Order: sequence, then structure tokens, then C-alpha cells
Amino acid sequence: MTLTLTLSLKRRGNKLPRPNGERVGVRGIGVEMNELTIALAKGRLLAPSLEIFEALGYDVREVRASRKLVVESGDVRFLIAKPMDVPIYVEHGAADVGIVGQDALRESGVNVYEPLVLGYGACRLVVAGKPALRDAEWRLLAGLRVASKYPRCTQKYFSARGLSAEVITLYGSIELAPMVHLADLIVDVVDTGRTLRENGLVELDEVFKSQAALIVNRASHTLRASEIRGLVEKINGTQTNADERR
Ligand code: PRP
Repeated sequence: MTLTLTLSLKRRGNKLPRPNGERVGVRGIGVEMNELTIALAKGRLLAPSLEIFEALGYDVREVRASRKLVVESGDVRFLIAKPMDVPIYVEHGAADVGIVGQDALRESGVNVYEPLVLGYGACRLVVAGKPALRDAEWRLLAGLRVASKYPRCTQKYFSARGLSAEVITLYGSIELAPMVHLADLIVDVVDTGRTLRENGLVELDEVFKSQAALIVNRASHTLRASEIRGLVEKINGTQTNADERR
């Protein structure tokens, strides 16, 4: 842990000065560091996540308008990453903070702090299959094949119930798998339910509920405690204001 932290601080301190060449010192520890780095998940969570930072006074127009993956704005730097990768960037310290769905977070199995849920990006991870399985005791079926882009969560769900299942990892359009007999079941996220309905599948069980969450690298949580505490409080404030407006 100490080694990783030292390397990560050196890398950030030495190679990523601010554009004007200024370095920002970290209070008390004598190590140079730069802007707080925030990894944001691409896709459905990006727009509401950017609205939060816009409400906090950050200029996010470049994130919206360009294909840049690193965008500096004021005293922060945004990294734009695939949802499943956001926890990895944060766990390894390439980002101090991230905003990601709890589905991707659980699947990644990373060791990070999760101080705040954000109330948007609500969805559910479910087990689904053809309607014929609704009444059948699918739990008793031998040789179950389950397709998912959440292999870790899927394995955990079936193992916790003492069921053996062959998990087939796919990267998208999971609903296709039962239709072409690649799998008996799927484990996937459901938002409106439209994709399941339009592909003749039904929900059989809920694995867990998910929403967007703020995650924090464990070392940053200590080394940049006041900055991160300030950010968490400000984000929490924007969420409270949004709740009051609803
Ligand atoms: C997700 C998920 C479902 C769909 C659920 O897929 O994997 O397929 O959304 O949404 P719904 O309940 O509102 O229909 P996504 O759009 O991320 O694309 P993918 O299948 O390529 O991963």
C-alpha cells in the first residue's frame, strides 16, 4: 500500500504540472500534487453527473462538446471512462474520486470508499428468462447457463443459493442470449423494462438495486481529506437542493 501510494504521488507530482507550470503543494506532507482527479462514467450517468459539477460552478462544456478523455476545469480534472473501468481508475489512484453505478462498482469488487449515493441512475440487476421459466422451478434445473456482463455478481448470486450455473460473459445485448439458446437465463440491469419486454423475456428475481454513487480512493481519502470532504459536502448539498425542488 505504501509503495503504491508513493509511486502514484510521484507520478502525479512530477509529470502532470498545471498548464501554467504551477505546482500545488499538499498541506502538511511535503509532497506535490495537482488537481483533484474525478473519473466520470460515460453513458447514462454522464449527463446528470456533469449537471452536479455545473451546479458547483465548474465549466463542463468541454466534456460535453469534445471527445477528450481528460478535461481540466478549475481545481479539478475530469477523466471520462467506461462505467466498468471507473472503479479501477479510483482503486489504483489514477483518479481520487469517481462517479459510477453501484452495479459496475459491485461487479468490479474494488476496495474503495463509497461515502455518498447520488439518487440518480436508478436501475436493478435482475435474473430474467423466457416466461415459461416463471412458473418452472428454474432453481432446480440442472446445467443452467446464464449470460451476463456481470459475471462476478452472477456467480455470487448463484453460489449464495447453492446453485451451480455456467456463467457466459457477454459485453452487451445480453437479452439476445436466451433467444438464440446461448443461455437459459440472463443477469442484467433493468431500467424501464422495455428491452426485456420487447425481446420476450420476464424478470424472475431481483439481485440488487443500483444507483449512482460517489467513490473515493482510500489513500486520497486520507491525504486529501479536507478537499474530498468539502467536495462530498458540496455534492450532497446539490442533491438536497434537487430533492427540495422535486
Ligand atoms: C442496458 C441493459 C439492458 C437495457 C435495460 O443496456 O444491459 O439491455 O439497458 O434498459 P431498459 O430496461 O430501459 O430497457 P445498454 O443500453 O447499456 O446496452 P448494452 O446492452 O449494449 O450493454
